[in-house]
Amino acid sequence: MLEVRKIDAGYGDVQVLFSLSLEVKEKEIVTLLGSNGAGKTTTLRCICGVVRPRQGEVLFKGRPVSKEPAAERAGMGIALVPEGRELWPQLTVRENLELGAYHGRARARENLDRVQSLFPRLLERKSQMAGSLSGGEQQMCAIGRALMSEPSVLLLDEPSLGLAPIVVDQMFEVIRQLHASGMTILLVEQNLAAALEVATRGYVIETGEVKLQGSAQELRSDPKIRSAYLGL
Ligand SMILES: Nc1ncnc2c1ncn2[C@@H]1O[C@H](COP(=O)(O)OP(=O)(O)OP(=O)(O)O)[C@@H](O)[C@H]1O
Ligand SMILES: [Mg+2]
Repeated sequence: MLEVRKIDAGYGDVQVLFSLSLEVKEKEIVTLLGSNGAGKTTTLRCICGVVRPRQGEVLFKGRPVSKEPAAERAGMGIALVPEGRELWPQLTVRENLELGAYHGRARARENLDRVQSLFPRLLERKSQMAGSLSGGEQQMCAIGRALMSEPSVLLLDEPSLGLAPIVVDQMFEVIRQLHASGMTILLVEQNLAAALEVATRGYVIETGEVKLQGSAQELRSDPKIRSAYLGL
């Protein structure tokens, strides 16, 4: 579904990613792990077209997309749920969801119904301003907005960030459900333990390079991960 092939990327003179490669197959849930500043968000930006790699290629459904603008990639089926949600706080839940629509009015209506049945809480709160939602509800709204474009792959950037522990559990349950419904997911997380519970495979990046990769089970039992990231 998605392949990142040896990309170099950065901002101005600063290089952040170094020959980074990863792959997400159809219906997989793959997690991209790493500490602050490792380059996780930059990787997602390269995939959705907000940052252009200097070297390497991003392939979507087997096709190189590095030259496609971000809007084009959204239409092709790549959707990002950005770090920090980035909702419009003064707009209602429903208006925020509608801003994620991509395929015209009729399908927007259908997709709105689908998203609201997936997240009944969003239906209950559809007329409320997004800024007045709880953190967990805002994250649901951000995921719902991304689903409005009928994506084939969903890029989730730290969906559990800033949420209370019980809400984090609910969020991972939502991710599990999305995966069970057939969605292909690339999940960026700092919460390694929880991410490795839901993911099939994972990559650990440090300073813009893939340092470890493997099945979730392999990563969970890796001595380096256990000591450096899981505190075991
Ligand atoms: N817009 C930007 N302009 C300049 N430098 C940036 C920009 N965005 C990120 N960086 C730098 O690039 C590096 C990687 O950042 P990135 O946001 O990709 O890391 P991350 O793994 O997502 O970190 P976090 O866990 O904190 O979200 C960091 O050193 C960061 O300071
Ligand atoms: Mg980030």
